[in-house]
Amino acid sequence: MATRKVISVGESVLRKKSKPVRDFDEELRQLLDDMKQTMHASDGMGLAAVQVGILRRIIIVEVNNAFIELINPEIIAQKGEDIEKEGCLSVGNFRGRVKRPYQITVKAYDRFGYAFTLTCEKWLARCICHEVDHLNGVLFIDHCLDREQYNKQGGKF
Ligand code: CO
Repeated sequence: MATRKVISVGESVLRKKSKPVRDFDEELRQLLDDMKQTMHASDGMGLAAVQVGILRRIIIVEVNNAFIELINPEIIAQKGEDIEKEGCLSVGNFRGRVKRPYQITVKAYDRFGYAFTLTCEKWLARCICHEVDHLNGVLFIDHCLDREQYNKQGGKF
C-alpha cells in the first residue's frame, strides 16, 4: 500500500469525466488499497480515483466506521432534501453548505466485480453523491450555497 498525492482544485484533471472500470483485476485492488490509505492519511470521509489522477469510476467512502468501495456507481433513486456543510480533500479548508438528497439508492460493483445495491441516508448518502460528482468532473463548490464566500476568499474552480 502507498499513499498517493491528492490533486487540488485548479488542475484540469479534476474537471474530466471518469471512464467505467472494465477489468476487476489486481491493479484495481491495489488502487483501492492505496486510496483507502490516502483517505485515512488526510482524515477524509471519501475519495474518488480522479483525485489521485486516475480517470476511472471508482470511489470510496467512510461514514461512522462503515467503509465502502463503489466501482461504477450509479444513483438510481433519490428522495428528500438535506442541507449540510461539506468539504473536500481537493479544495483545502473551505467548507460550505450543499443541498443533497436525504436518501439515495446506489447500484455499484465491489472490488471483485459483484454487483450490489445500497439504500442509505443522510451523511452516507451525501458522501456518495459528493464522490459521484467527482466522477463527472463536478466539485461541491460548483453548487455550494455559500459559493460567494468561496469566491470572496479567492477560491479557485
Ligand atoms: Co471531494
